[in-house]
Amino acid sequence: MARIFSGIQPTGIAHLGNYLGAIQNWAALQEGNESIYCLVDLHAITVWQEPDALRAQTRTNAALLIACGIDPVHSILFHQSAVHAHARLAWIFNCVARFGWLGRMTQFKDKAGKDRENVSTGLFVYPNLMAADILTYHATEVPVGEDQSQHLELANDIAQKFNHDYGIAFFPTITPRIIGTTARIMSLRDGTKKMSKSDASDQSRINLTDDADTIAQKIRRAKTDPEPLPESAENLDGRPEARNLVGIYAALADARVADVLRDHGGQGFGTFKERLTELIVAKITPIGAEAARLAADPGTIERILQDGAARAAAIAEPIVREAERIVGL
Ligand code: ADP
Ligand code: NA
Repeated sequence: MARIFSGIQPTGIAHLGNYLGAIQNWAALQEGNESIYCLVDLHAITVWQEPDALRAQTRTNAALLIACGIDPVHSILFHQSAVHAHARLAWIFNCVARFGWLGRMTQFKDKAGKDRENVSTGLFVYPNLMAADILTYHATEVPVGEDQSQHLELANDIAQKFNHDYGIAFFPTITPRIIGTTARIMSLRDGTKKMSKSDASDQSRINLTDDADTIAQKIRRAKTDPEPLPESAENLDGRPEARNLVGIYAALADARVADVLRDHGGQGFGTFKERLTELIVAKITPIGAEAARLAADPGTIERILQDGAARAAAIAEPIVREAERIVGL
């Protein structure tokens, strides 16, 4: 039995990339493990969020996680700002991590772009807070998408430096659980960018709340090239949009890419997109419907989050208190 931690930013609505790269694994990993899943609202405010929208999205995404199979009785489901241990340990890690380490984070470089003068300092130290999220539970297994692998390496560097500097084996080593072909789902508008809540275009992603018509329209407009689907996977090289749509199909059908191409190779995208739409609608719209049913009773979601925060704090508080003691606080 392992202790698992993972999180999602309530900066928008959870999408198909979050689902395939992370959330479906979170649901599967509950069995036989102690699982802690967090709506990371402190991470969200590293870029501007409308306060009321942020509060609402935290609740909507909580409902979506439950609709995806996260059982809030077995798992701990809560929002980050409700457990103060995260911010306290993050401050210690701000003082352990080196400036140069953070400067090498590719997500920061991507998000900050050229305008370094005007990004929040929170965006820069975001990976320290992420390390604290995990390590304040002494969690060892972290199921995430591939975009987070550099941050997890940094978390291990921070844990190791803390242990080394204070001469105590206090923080464990984290094992990333980055799962195969679905670890990076790409934007529907640009096959070289990952599908993300922070993409300005809603056409770039399938939200888990999208209805059948919206899904059909987004897939119809998804960028492709003029060639039909190839018969074998090597021939997807250099065709990122085709690779992405086939990968999404394979993941949702629980099939291998080779099998999808055996069945659909030679088809034009007109036909393949119709099949893909049917599959996405069948898998995703029941999640949206169940989340809407849950969200109709906001009191229940609120109680689940409060109960989750209390159970999370019971684990995190003694660990962060001990970290503070080790540091001399
Ligand atoms: P976003 O970029 O949409 O805001 P988050 O930072 O909230 O995503 O990530 C939540 C989880 O979903 C993380 O484990 C992350 O690695 C995973 N994830 C995010 N985008 C993708 C994607 N396009 N493909 C696969 N996994 C993803
Ligand atoms: Na992300």
